Amino acid sequence: MSKHIVIGVTGGIAAYKVLDVASKLRKLGYSMNTIMTKNAIEFVQPLAFQTITNNYVVTDTFERPYTWDVEHIALAKKADVILIAPATANIIGKVANGIADDMLSTTVMAARGKVVFAPAMNSAMYENPIVQENIAYLKEKGYLFIEPDSGWLACGDKGSGKLPAPEKIVEYVVELLEKEEEAEVVEQDLAGKNILVTAGPTIEAIDPFRYITNHSSGKMGYAIAENAAKRGANVLLVSGQTVLDCPERVERINVRSAREMYDAVHEHFDWADAVIKTAAVSDYRPKEASDHKIKKSGENLILELVPNPDILKSLGERKTHQVLVGFAAETQNVIEYAEDKIRKKNLDFIVANNIAKEGAGFKSDTNIATIIDRDGTIIEHEQMQKSELGNVILDKLKMYFK
Ligand code: PMT
Repeated sequence: MSKHIVIGVTGGIAAYKVLDVASKLRKLGYSMNTIMTKNAIEFVQPLAFQTITNNYVVTDTFERPYTWDVEHIALAKKADVILIAPATANIIGKVANGIADDMLSTTVMAARGKVVFAPAMNSAMYENPIVQENIAYLKEKGYLFIEPDSGWLACGDKGSGKLPAPEKIVEYVVELLEKEEEAEVVEQDLAGKNILVTAGPTIEAIDPFRYITNHSSGKMGYAIAENAAKRGANVLLVSGQTVLDCPERVERINVRSAREMYDAVHEHFDWADAVIKTAAVSDYRPKEASDHKIKKSGENLILELVPNPDILKSLGERKTHQVLVGFAAETQNVIEYAEDKIRKKNLDFIVANNIAKEGAGFKSDTNIATIIDRDGTIIEHEQMQKSELGNVILDKLKMYFK
């Protein structure tokens, strides 16, 4: 599928040069939309971009073109890359401060693909510490910048802040898109394997309004499920309540309580070649969930908790050919407790994470894990993105399939 570029044009004299950028990208076969800010259309007519890109130009959030849905979300989803050129100090400042008050800034805020800024402005403005701080902050957040050239500027000053030549901008964008395409080609090394992943928290009702749960966001389990599907596996995700979207090519069963998770996992256990139990399962539940809201009485309220079934342990007792992978969330004696779980739950390997460490465990995008094998091999991993750790775990799993 051909890649789609959204060009964001903001108000600067260099806006006219971006027509050439658009023209060159179009000749290379990319499809494009243009978003122009109110100030940009003072410099270049939207019709010029419309003609070159052969696509409608959006100039503000309230416009309703007739050919397609232009809501900012639609454009944000469609864009493999958003190129903002020329990027004024204003748009840089807005994005750095989370301001979304027009079509371009709202689209950038909702973007999933890469966003590239090509700043162009007076050199004093460009060198202003506030602008530089905004740029540094955005770079830290993963936004990309094409460095401006130095030379004579439209205002007569000499210095840094000149929009680079269109060829240079085109080269940057093309390279970026090609790199993304290469990264998208994933080896199908888990093709044909059936992998069941559990993720997220369980919820144990106290009454219709209240429940016991934990801080699991589901990120770790979803990252494993997503990567397994990308690597060709058939993936079933049994998920506690999360706000995450189901990854592509993954089948999801939503559950709430530990007992619902138990039933869903056991129902599909024969199908599975491997089960990865990332979910944070509540060890206890209230003995009885009241079917009406418990009223405040002013007295102490004692909740009697009873143990939930240990899902992983029950799988360990039932397993035939399945590879069983557990997680261990601990705050102390992590390795010791994890090794104990391998034995008690009959696991092949376990991923231990110290949830008390910063950058590990619940909610964060990263994790710090130690993988312990049944044979006692221990491999400590550095802090990494949960997505990356997902692949490390799947690489390990693959060795058990041989
Ligand atoms: O969801 P995130 O915000 O990304 O956070 C990720 C995580 C911290 C939840 C994850 O990395 C993690 O550590 N998951 C396991 C949490 C946990 O329940 O650990 P545990 O040590 O209590 O349980 C050990 C293993 O037994 C786990 O695989 C668990 O799924 C399983 N278990 C536990 C209790 C129970 N009743 N049934 C189970 O199957």
